[in-house]
Amino acid sequence: MTARPLVLLATCQELPGGYADDIELVAAFAEQGISASWAPWDDTDIDFAAADLVLLRSPWDYMRRLDEFLAWCDSLPRLANPASVVRWNTDKRYLVALAEAGVAVVPGSVVPPGERPAWPATEFVIKPTVGAGSVEVGRFTPDRRAEAAAHLAALHASGATALLQPYQASVDTEGETALVFFAGVFSHAFHKPAMLDGGPARARASLADAEVVRPARAGDAHRAVAESALGAAARLLRLRRQDLLYARVDLIADDTGSPLVLELELSEPLLGLRLTDASARRRLAAAVAARLRAG
Ligand SMILES: Nc1ncnc2c1ncn2[C@@H]1O[C@H](COP(=O)(O)OP(=O)(O)O)[C@@H](O)[C@H]1O
Ligand SMILES: [Mg+2]
Repeated sequence: MTARPLVLLATCQELPGGYADDIELVAAFAEQGISASWAPWDDTDIDFAAADLVLLRSPWDYMRRLDEFLAWCDSLPRLANPASVVRWNTDKRYLVALAEAGVAVVPGSVVPPGERPAWPATEFVIKPTVGAGSVEVGRFTPDRRAEAAAHLAALHASGATALLQPYQASVDTEGETALVFFAGVFSHAFHKPAMLDGGPARARASLADAEVVRPARAGDAHRAVAESALGAAARLLRLRRQDLLYARVDLIADDTGSPLVLELELSEPLLGLRLTDASARRRLAAAVAARLRAG
């Protein structure tokens, strides 16, 4: 009898049993004959290299330790998504590459330390290029330039590069639509409400605070933009689409109602597995099982 394959679900010390949305994943893997268990990525007692696959799920404390985290990713022989993808995707400058590849992306300009932006005349957002969970994402009206400059200076002082984008006001009424793909195949969609009040956003009180998400229907326009983002990313990364075991494309509408990519999450996305689609975890587990069979 061959041993059951082992999948380690990488999380952080603060969420030792994973994030609330993912807690039924272990059972879904068991249905596929896979042993899965949760493991904080920086727990040196765990032999991640021995796993048949390490799946990044909620290692959400890496933002301030990115080099250490990426070195850990590089050290793993079997990581999903692969370390090269994580390296590319944990820096929002990938949005510029997607825009250059012709994907409809929220426009933005990158402002590294030492540089000053051309301040927009309309409401805008300043965020670190490396970040997640809306941490340090600030929203400003043009008359609050001094506050915006202070927020930018603080990001730069911490060594961060900033991304400056026009605020897409549609998010206040329509929110954000996230489309989830497994092995390049569309699985499901969910809706997120607007996350920003005016001013510099405060860090979330706790990583375990659930984002308020609900199921959504992805229309043709949303599907087309999400598919084009996924295709372009695969080409830029020299991978096949199906090599991306999981992907989430976040879309918000421009002034005319057309969807734009706000984020393409290929590293450690919240997938809405439990909060929005109870069958989605089975599709993820099946995609992982197929990957393990392919070797
Ligand atoms: N340009 C923008 N226009 C409108 N809302 C934005 C914009 N950028 C960010 N936001 C809001 O801030 C949240 C976090 O920003 P996002 O770019 O998704 O970074 P993170 O990686 O932190 O999730 C989004 O979910 C959205 O509600
Ligand atoms: Mg986001």
